[in-house]
Amino acid sequence: MSIKAENRSHFGVPIFESLIPTSPRELEDIKNQLLRLRDSDKEGISRSNQRGWHSDDNLHQSDSPVLQWLTEQVFQIGCQMIRHAERLPSESPVYLSSLWANINDFGAWNAPHAHLPCEWSGCVYIDVNETPQERNNGIAPGDIMFFDPIPVGAPYRPAATVNYTPKNGTMFLFPGYLLHMVAPHYDEKPRISVAFNFRLGENIQQVAR
Ligand SMILES: [Fe+2]
Repeated sequence: MSIKAENRSHFGVPIFESLIPTSPRELEDIKNQLLRLRDSDKEGISRSNQRGWHSDDNLHQSDSPVLQWLTEQVFQIGCQMIRHAERLPSESPVYLSSLWANINDFGAWNAPHAHLPCEWSGCVYIDVNETPQERNNGIAPGDIMFFDPIPVGAPYRPAATVNYTPKNGTMFLFPGYLLHMVAPHYDEKPRISVAFNFRLGENIQQVAR
């Protein structure tokens, strides 16, 4: 599978953006599956989510065909981008170590966090408002924001944060050390995304020795 990806590269850090090969119908099926999951586990788990629902982080092992399909897309695209970024041979071991859903209702957001020790992390958007009307100082509700690892800003560095308004079917992939957050949104419809972590096999083996 060959993929198209853009390297947004902010603060000298790679931030890849790619479109997963999906249709509105498939995204709708995934959305419905995730909403059913939330119904069966209303409490969810507590991570960076503020008011939002966070699923268990093992959805990559789900029996659901639509989640298995999504996992396969994330894995294939992620592996290619990671091997490219790390200049790794095409057969080097890369593992998808966790995958979970975030369902943010009105007012929910995700606090700044990183995903260490995982080497690469990312998210894919299932059902988000692509055209929020409100924008304050360039930031829209529901935007994903990335923080410069050296957040000094002008005059030494570019602005200390960069933000994107997500699009359905789009996937971001970035190093696990990169601090990020999700701005609160104020739509009646929930903002639904799936996030994931990757590990590099060689690093895991080195640590284990
Ligand atoms: Fe995150």
